Amino acid sequence: MNKTIAIDGPSASGKSSVSKGVAAALGFIYVDSGALYRGITWQALRKGVDVHDAAAVIACMENTDWDFFVQDGAATFSVDGNVPVQELRKKDVRENVSFVAVIPEVRTFVVDSLRALEHFGSLVMEGRDIGTKVFPDSPYKFYLDADPEERAMRRYRELVAAGENEKAEEVMESLKKRDKIDSTRKTDPLTVAPGAQVIDSTSMTLDDVIQTVVDAVKE
Ligand code: DC
Repeated sequence: MNKTIAIDGPSASGKSSVSKGVAAALGFIYVDSGALYRGITWQALRKGVDVHDAAAVIACMENTDWDFFVQDGAATFSVDGNVPVQELRKKDVRENVSFVAVIPEVRTFVVDSLRALEHFGSLVMEGRDIGTKVFPDSPYKFYLDADPEERAMRRYRELVAAGENEKAEEVMESLKKRDKIDSTRKTDPLTVAPGAQVIDSTSMTLDDVIQTVVDAVKE
């Protein structure tokens, strides 16, 4: 039987690195659920759609051809035949995705698409509502957290490494703003799922966190 491991938590809590590591250790398919919210945002922006106009975003999403497949151990998708990767990490997408992710119809489309990925095999899925909404019945639920300062520094280092020119204080501000939008939105706000194991990674190494999750799943 296929298993799905749900890994939720705020921005820059280490979810991606941990989820990829756990997927590699167990031979499961890695799924970045946020990428789909980013993909819808990217498509809206490049089509000139106002992301604050929910009806226009929904129409744009519905008129787009979405195709899901697995490549190099990760679930991915094409958008009208394009496979955006770096594009999804750019500033315009990053700064607008929270507005798109609050639209209930967008969330329904993403949740349904994520659930359908189970037919590809066992999954490690990272996100904000995987344990609460997408796979609430999974026995493998984790909530990763870390102090806001530590998360902002991690995100800042990532951006610098990616060649983005941003100030540490701005990264901290934008992270706080996103935390607020993500945890106060009406539909499926970011919260700890019932039964989830909370892991505070502030002073843990990446390998320790991966091992903690792998051990808990194997138990
Ligand atoms: O994890 P990320 O930074 O790529 O997420 C991008 C946005 O999508 C962020 O605003 C939160 C939202 N998101 C969500 O609401 N639910 C998820 N399961 C994953 C991401």
